[in-house]
Amino acid sequence: MFKLNVSLGERSYPIYVSTDFSDLGKALSQAEIGKKTVLVTDENVNLYHSDECEKALTVSGFEVHKLVIEAGEKSKNLDTVRRIYDFMIDLKLERNSTIIALGGGVVGDITGFAAATFLRGINFIQIPTTLLAQADSSVGGKVGVDFRGAKNIIGAFYQPKLVYVNVNTLKTLPLREIKAGMAEVVKHGIIMDSEFFDYIDYNTNKIFNFDESVLQYITKMNCTIKGKVVEKDEKESGLRAILNFGHTIGHAIESLSNFTMLHGECVSIGMVGAFKLAEKLGMVSKEATQKVVNVLCNIGLPVNAAGMSANDIYEQMFYDKKIKNNKLVFVLPKRIGEVVLCEVSDRELIKSVLDELV
Ligand SMILES: NC(=O)c1ccc[n+]([C@@H]2O[C@H](COP(=O)([O-])OP(=O)(O)OC[C@H]3O[C@@H](n4cnc5c(N)ncnc54)[C@H](O)[C@@H]3O)[C@@H](O)[C@H]2O)c1
Ligand SMILES: [Zn+2]
Repeated sequence: MFKLNVSLGERSYPIYVSTDFSDLGKALSQAEIGKKTVLVTDENVNLYHSDECEKALTVSGFEVHKLVIEAGEKSKNLDTVRRIYDFMIDLKLERNSTIIALGGGVVGDITGFAAATFLRGINFIQIPTTLLAQADSSVGGKVGVDFRGAKNIIGAFYQPKLVYVNVNTLKTLPLREIKAGMAEVVKHGIIMDSEFFDYIDYNTNKIFNFDESVLQYITKMNCTIKGKVVEKDEKESGLRAILNFGHTIGHAIESLSNFTMLHGECVSIGMVGAFKLAEKLGMVSKEATQKVVNVLCNIGLPVNAAGMSANDIYEQMFYDKKIKNNKLVFVLPKRIGEVVLCEVSDRELIKSVLDELV
């Protein structure tokens, strides 16, 4: 096991990266929290990982009360939060009690929101079990739920007390989910670290063979890159926007697919779109775009939105909640390893990129 740190003053926290749950109790013991814990997980993760996790906590003297919620985005709402509140009130949880999210981004986001709001904030711990959650959602403190069809519209910034990643939990994750999670991993390389991008390229096979040292290194780099961005801009007033690389077009495609496509699949296409746009603006070479396309294809991610309408994607981008003053702002690459925010108002240029994507 090794330990990273996210430095946010008094909200700083460690991220432990391990290949099993054996050090979980020790990690929690160091966090100076009460012994009473609620473990929230979903029905899939419960089948594979909650027993081991519970055992690791109880041997270290923690009292664990498990709540299993339905799997999937459909659970990410205030009804589930209410269930968690009811459960915690019945257990007479106090300010020093702890709520633990064991699962993917859905469990993490809901549980974090309940933690942020219950008794004005109780201890929150993330044990991410999807690649998306290990690489992205468990770090950074964004928590929340969907409401009236709008994703993540109710939420807060609430940092966990610690994050504990057991990379071997990925072994039970459906392959499609692993591939989708890889989109955010590739994104981290593109926005900040070309060596990491090359590392992913060289080690794609090892990732899919669950090579422990490769998976741990990837987690380390993901958490370091995302952690660095969050340290500089905890509440998304500037720099944090670079994490949205590939997401402007990606979100539009995700909505248009009626969420039948996974987030990472859409981000993959969005990243290709961002490269093509940057290419047309003279910012990157054709070779760089091709390199990114090759890496995404090797992973098994889609690189186009064949069958969709370019016009629909264009219109959908304006519904995105991050659009300011009706202007499209893209995160565009200057090279693999560096991106910038660019407002692009040339409608025809954007459309020509979308035409190439469909
Ligand atoms: N807070 C943030 O910063 C942030 C960032 C990105 C995404 N998100 C949110 O994350 C959510 C998506 O997260 P996700 O992709 O992890 O989806 P998810 O939590 O729905 O998990 C995907 C599927 O995998 C199953 N699963 C999870 N771990 C497993 C394992 N180890 N073995 C077998 N099955 C497993 C789940 O039950 C689910 O069916 C979205 O709601 C999105 O808004 C949040
Ligand atoms: Zn994303």
